[in-house]
Amino acid sequence: MRLHRYLAHAGVASRRKSEEIILAGQVTVNGVPVIELGTKVGPDDVVAVDGEVVRPAGHVYLLMNKPAGYVTTLSDERGRRTVMHLIPDVGAPVKPVGRLDMDTAGLLLLTNDGDLAARLSHAKYGVEKEYLATVLGQPDEHGMDRLRRGIFIEGQKTAPAEAHLVAPLNSAGTSLVSLVIHEGRKRQVRLMLAAVGCPVVKLVRTRIAHLVQKGMKPGECRTLHMKDVQRLRALVGLER
Ligand code: URA
Repeated sequence: MRLHRYLAHAGVASRRKSEEIILAGQVTVNGVPVIELGTKVGPDDVVAVDGEVVRPAGHVYLLMNKPAGYVTTLSDERGRRTVMHLIPDVGAPVKPVGRLDMDTAGLLLLTNDGDLAARLSHAKYGVEKEYLATVLGQPDEHGMDRLRRGIFIEGQKTAPAEAHLVAPLNSAGTSLVSLVIHEGRKRQVRLMLAAVGCPVVKLVRTRIAHLVQKGMKPGECRTLHMKDVQRLRALVGLER
């Protein structure tokens, strides 16, 4: 197996990122630094990245219903609870795919399939992510239209989105808005809704592609069915 593929299988990074890691001189095979991209390795070779031995594990795919109050990182220097505290020991180095803000709840994928993770997070593949936002006030038709057409955030326009009002303004002064976006920019949904004058007070991701949150308790984590994995991989142009 080629070295970059081996690294991707070991959950180090996507194949492309693994190539960069090799070129950066971070990889050794049997103790010898290797920077040739075509290098082949077999089961008896010992491959290390930054001195740490890595091995290809079978791919593991977890779907979590993340509760609010957890950060989406592997560890947190400020000692906050991370999503890694919620996953079972799967014997493989799974990582969150993209991120949810600490205050955001809902669906989060974790995997050691580096190629799938990279494509699911890349705007180019336009994978749908659906959010249900409780907002202060209620966006008017003009605001809804702006959400759909795209809004400038930090100088860059968001891609067209689907937006609709799920519940109108209630006596507490909030309404419920559903947004389907195809990118994953930092705090994107909060920034989009704030831009139309309706700051988010609660945010839940209810869907990633065809995967829905329905029936999962907060903090629950389950292994994806193979047919779901195949559907996700096919969606982003990876072989089954
Ligand atoms: N958009 C946000 O604003 N926050 C999230 O956590 C995810 C998407």
